[in-house]
Amino acid sequence: MQSLLPYLDWRQPVLDWLTENVPPKRLIHILGVEKTAIALAERYGADPQRAAQAGLFHDLAKYFGATRLLQEAQRLGIAIDPIQLQSPHLLHAEVSAMLAKELFDECDPSVLGAIANHTLGNADLDLLSQILYVADWIEPSRHGEDVEKVRRAEAHSLLEAVLAGADQTILELVTARRAIHPRTLLTRNWALATLATKEST
Ligand SMILES: [Fe+2]
Ligand SMILES: [Fe+2]
Repeated sequence: MQSLLPYLDWRQPVLDWLTENVPPKRLIHILGVEKTAIALAERYGADPQRAAQAGLFHDLAKYFGATRLLQEAQRLGIAIDPIQLQSPHLLHAEVSAMLAKELFDECDPSVLGAIANHTLGNADLDLLSQILYVADWIEPSRHGEDVEKVRRAEAHSLLEAVLAGADQTILELVTARRAIHPRTLLTRNWALATLATKEST
């Protein structure tokens, strides 16, 4: 049996940091995403350890306020577009990826990419990015009709769940009369086109 020690070794400092910097409710969400990402990795053939890392790191910056997120994004050299300037919360994914690297030496490009993509997505998401995007939606502590739609879609395929997540985001933004980030549209269009290609072959 493979030793669990390397897994436990990297995890404890992250849990200590999260306990200091994140409210307990958000910690439950993060642990739920970690667990769900591992399960999805096992189901869809990705590396469970990378999935666990992406899950545990994904919301490091979630509870930074707007001013701090903008400052961190500037400090870390992250480009800020007009929609992110209007809603700095959207920057927490990219800031979390950079902090995972800075604070915990996370260097795996697929893990960092998945963290950076977990809120807005992008076109051509790799498997780990799809897993984290969906895990963030369907982890067990999340409830609601929108979440159930993504869960039901995941029963068909991971990509169906990515599409459902992007659809729900767009519908909620339209209802709230808020701007839709172009990357959310790219995610939706890419998932839709990829599913259509699969269906026709
Ligand atoms: Fe997040
Ligand atoms: Fe999250």
